[in-house]
Amino acid sequence: MDLCIIGSGYVGLVSGACFAEVGHHVICVDNNPKKIAALKAGQIPIYEPGLEDLVKRNVASHRLKFTGSIEEGVDGSQVVFIAVPTPPQPDGSVDLSYIEKVAREIAGVLKPGQYRVVVDKSTVPVKTGDNVTDTIKRYAKPGVEFDVVSNPEFLREGCAVADLMKPDRVVVGSNSERAINLMKKIYEPFMAPILVTDVNSAELIKHAANSFLALKISYANALSAICEASGADVEKVVDGIGTDKRIGRNFLNAGLGYGGSCFPKDIAAFIAICEQMGTPFTLLKEVQRINRDQKERFLQKLRDALWILKDKKIAVWGLTFKPDTDDVRTSVPVDLVNDLIKEGAHVTAYDPKGMENVREFGLIPDSVKLAKTALEAAEGAEALVLATEWREFKEVDLAALKSAMHTPLVFDGRNLFDPTAMRELGFKYRCIGRPMMETK
Ligand code: NAD
Ligand code: UGA
Repeated sequence: MDLCIIGSGYVGLVSGACFAEVGHHVICVDNNPKKIAALKAGQIPIYEPGLEDLVKRNVASHRLKFTGSIEEGVDGSQVVFIAVPTPPQPDGSVDLSYIEKVAREIAGVLKPGQYRVVVDKSTVPVKTGDNVTDTIKRYAKPGVEFDVVSNPEFLREGCAVADLMKPDRVVVGSNSERAINLMKKIYEPFMAPILVTDVNSAELIKHAANSFLALKISYANALSAICEASGADVEKVVDGIGTDKRIGRNFLNAGLGYGGSCFPKDIAAFIAICEQMGTPFTLLKEVQRINRDQKERFLQKLRDALWILKDKKIAVWGLTFKPDTDDVRTSVPVDLVNDLIKEGAHVTAYDPKGMENVREFGLIPDSVKLAKTALEAAEGAEALVLATEWREFKEVDLAALKSAMHTPLVFDGRNLFDPTAMRELGFKYRCIGRPMMETK
């Protein structure tokens, strides 16, 4: 089938490449001319494992192309996906102006006699589909035929290609048989269960899924606090509850709290829309509170061990919000670096993929040094903070780390290392929700 994707970022580009991989002809549109020029020149603007090969292969086989023109995209495609940003506003509700703008632009290029399905893949609050339909009707020429579908995306960054190629389920929200049949044809090659719902339910599924996953993380983080107070081990507690199939072990890893471009904004957005509709979801406010406290409790561990952070030389490993991505948007590690700087610490950071972006987007002050390797960052440090669980850190030569540091004091915000092994190597080791094991 001929498909168009408007917005060629993490969702649009990866979805486009995966649709092309299964045989569709895809045209990806973006209004950022630099991005389109880079993509046309064979450069991939984001880091996502497996993406570069996928894009190159499908461009070479003429199934994937790029353009800056919505008209070109919509003209030749029966189904048009919207994958533009839905950022938060200061009150937590969603800024839907990107979606509205694209809806108007699509309306402007729709031609009478050409049926089109307009699919919202961006994460939006319930009722957005109705507004997109009204907007297109308002701005389109008379006689234009279209349907609006909600098709939320569930990919995770860092494994987006794998998630898209093998989804747990595909959600299609629509009241139109014609649109549903086309959507089924698009997704048939992925061999995943397709859940057909009305538009409102599909939109709610997305917010409900992200909020539930965030709730699981906050639950584990709240458990980590009582484990620290009581001397229990949160890893054992979450294994103990997670083996119950009704609960499940996934998304119960205690750490520094959730970050990224999705959970923080989507939980805030779900709270906002529930409030607007007169059905406040106060449980989710507690999820947010626990998430904020988790980073604060971690910082307090540093203060407890180092007393004064001012003028302390601290190494930070990890800047991205999770491993295997270059995404540093709403990253807890980046917030942590800024907190340390505010307290007067001297920070040297290292991240395998995120350093270019933190500089490009000005997310940390210039005073933060960026090292070329993990061990270089730790050179002479009075403490090391492990903020993102990159595999590379797990494989570091710990003896070399110990001799590089001024003081072998490690704060592991992701429970990456084994506490016993760290103690035996002579580290003073602090982690999340696990009993403290002091060096003899
Ligand atoms: P992104 O910022 O990576 O990409 C969005 C792209 O849209 C950018 O390249 C931007 O230039 C382009 N764009 C903006 N306005 C445009 C316009 N008028 N015309 C054409 N292009 C335009 O964003 P993303 O991370 O891909 O997220 C997109 C949506 O998908 C959001 O609603 C997000 O919540 C949702 N989502 C994201 C993920 C994820 O892991 N990143 C997963 C599932 C859902
Ligand atoms: C999340 C969801 O997992 C995707 O299904 C969804 O499509 C996406 O949001 C979205 O809507 O954009 P993503 O943000 O890429 O995906 O990454 P996750 O793996 O969910 O991690 C989010 C945050 O939670 C990270 O900061 C991670 O470190 C943290 N996390 C995750 C934990 O602290 N503990 C866990 O057990 C799992």
